[in-house]
Amino acid sequence: MFGLGRHSLPEDFFRGACDVHCHLLPGVDDGFPTVEKSLHALKKLEQRGVKKMVFTPHFMKDYPDNHREAIMAKFEAYKAEAAQVCGIELHLAAEYMLDACFLDHFKEGFLTLDKGGNHVLCETSYMMYEHGITEMIYEIMCAEYQPVIAHPERYEYANREIYFRWKDKDYQYQLNLLSLAGTYGSNAVAKARYLLKEGMYDYVGSDMHGLSNFEHFLPEIRLDKKCLEQLERLIENNKRLVG
Ligand SMILES: [Fe+2]
Repeated sequence: MFGLGRHSLPEDFFRGACDVHCHLLPGVDDGFPTVEKSLHALKKLEQRGVKKMVFTPHFMKDYPDNHREAIMAKFEAYKAEAAQVCGIELHLAAEYMLDACFLDHFKEGFLTLDKGGNHVLCETSYMMYEHGITEMIYEIMCAEYQPVIAHPERYEYANREIYFRWKDKDYQYQLNLLSLAGTYGSNAVAKARYLLKEGMYDYVGSDMHGLSNFEHFLPEIRLDKKCLEQLERLIENNKRLVG
């Protein structure tokens, strides 16, 4: 218990947890650079009680080599290696930038958060609202895909009006856990707390790019009772999503 009625995360917060957003697939984006560092992180997360992880490498025009078949092959090779040292169940999805390549990824078939399912993790530029985002999302929703907006609290341009408008369109929201720790600045903390209290999030993910940053910021999280209850609801949603 800390001042202002705020609490740190409970000791057993990660017991049985499923992470739906992380960059542990090594050497494919700005996440973990090597297999060794990634396996080390997996072992540490297993000690915390994590049971399942969905790897979500970036698919965007900045990473032209990241396409479905190539990433699937890298994931299968990594998964075989990870199984030698760790019992965490691994799944593969992707984090799709809503950019000029988005509809190409749509055509080749999305890697979804729910295996064989329809939940697609999408992100936008942090700084500016780019034209055509809602049209692209509309197109995939017409094909029965469910968009899950990654870390809406991080978008500088986003305000209450946008958050409610997107929710009215049935977009789902994924909170970055470390947004609550101040990792992305005070605006992101305020937005994350607001969206949590409003009950607007559907899932929570680590968006982990490196273990040390994650472990450094995790103890900084302080939440009131209502936010903690919401967070526990999201953890349960994660489990239901991935199965
Ligand atoms: Fe990410």
